[in-house]
Amino acid sequence: MERSFPEAFVERVNKMGLKDIQAEPVLIDMVQQGVGDDYAVIIDRISQDVPFYRAYLKNAAISGTAVINNPFWWSADEKFFNNALAVKIGVPVPKTVILPSHERPTDTSDSSFSNLKFPLSWEKIFEHIGFPAYMKPHAGGGWKSVYKLNNMDDFFKAYSETGQLVMMLQEEIIFEDYFRCYCLGGKYVRIMQYEPRNPHHLRYQSNNGPASAKLLKQVNDYVLQLCHSLGYDFNTVEMAVRNGIPYAIDFCNPAPDADIKSVGQENFDWVVEHASKMAVERAQMQKPGQDNLTWGTFVRDGVANFESHNTSMASKAESKEKPKAEKTAKTKTKK
Ligand SMILES: Nc1ncnc2c1ncn2[C@@H]1O[C@H](COP(=O)(O)OP(=O)(O)O)[C@@H](O)[C@H]1O
Ligand SMILES: [Mg+2]
Repeated sequence: MERSFPEAFVERVNKMGLKDIQAEPVLIDMVQQGVGDDYAVIIDRISQDVPFYRAYLKNAAISGTAVINNPFWWSADEKFFNNALAVKIGVPVPKTVILPSHERPTDTSDSSFSNLKFPLSWEKIFEHIGFPAYMKPHAGGGWKSVYKLNNMDDFFKAYSETGQLVMMLQEEIIFEDYFRCYCLGGKYVRIMQYEPRNPHHLRYQSNNGPASAKLLKQVNDYVLQLCHSLGYDFNTVEMAVRNGIPYAIDFCNPAPDADIKSVGQENFDWVVEHASKMAVERAQMQKPGQDNLTWGTFVRDGVANFESHNTSMASKAESKEKPKAEKTAKTKTKK
């Protein structure tokens, strides 16, 4: 259970000595539909594990709280969609396919799968992805059920262990550099050199020298592009660099590890400082009773397209109706 970040965050905000802004751990009692509490901003670090909290946060959001991260988007999102979006916005990602769960979901029968070709075109899939490959849950985290696979036998053995999990199969990026990047408020970016092959406590110590300014700029731009499209206020993006090209590996981390023991003192201080800044900015912008959530450009563009389509349909309908109305009027006068 994470403790170091939330406590340091509360302390940091309160040390700012702002007249109208205080931070505290959220305390939940009776939750009534459509009735929020008085929080301008809530930073959510746990609702991925507690569905009750997710429901509480949606209720708080519709009542005006700026919930970080947007609980609606977080409920909708998963890693395979993230990758599809990266492809569409031009951020490099490893070749990836999604696989049906090895076991049928509970309460389904064979007939629930009449839309699925059986057997799948495994040869085509392996040819596309190649080996070595990674297989991981499409909605997972914390390195749980992440497999590195060297061949087909490895694959089928691992796949048979995955039960009802929906897995992605992904090309391995054999990297010369790896970064884990914090992105807060869609603008504060911290690029941390990371060595995932080291034991846990040494992962933030890379033996590589400093990365070039050009590479860091590219990583920074991709991180912002992804977080803006997805609409995350608080996220980490992992990038593996192959032949100078950063590939986004893991960027669906709305409650990213910020523990001082894993990220180290300097990174921890940065996260506490910038999370506090972001939260205060959001509290100052918050408008009571309104939607104060961040919606990414994926959702916003979708809504805007829908609205402009509706407007143009309405104006077409109006212009079609007009001559009709005139005709009727004319007919009437003739009579
Ligand atoms: N396609 C890949 N190529 C190279 N390494 C990978 C790839 N996918 C995952 N990894 C390694 O496995 C680790 C865990 O996978 P990741 O996608 O980050 O899952 P999680 O969300 O569980 O952290 C990564 O930090 C990275 O070291
Ligand atoms: Mg990861």
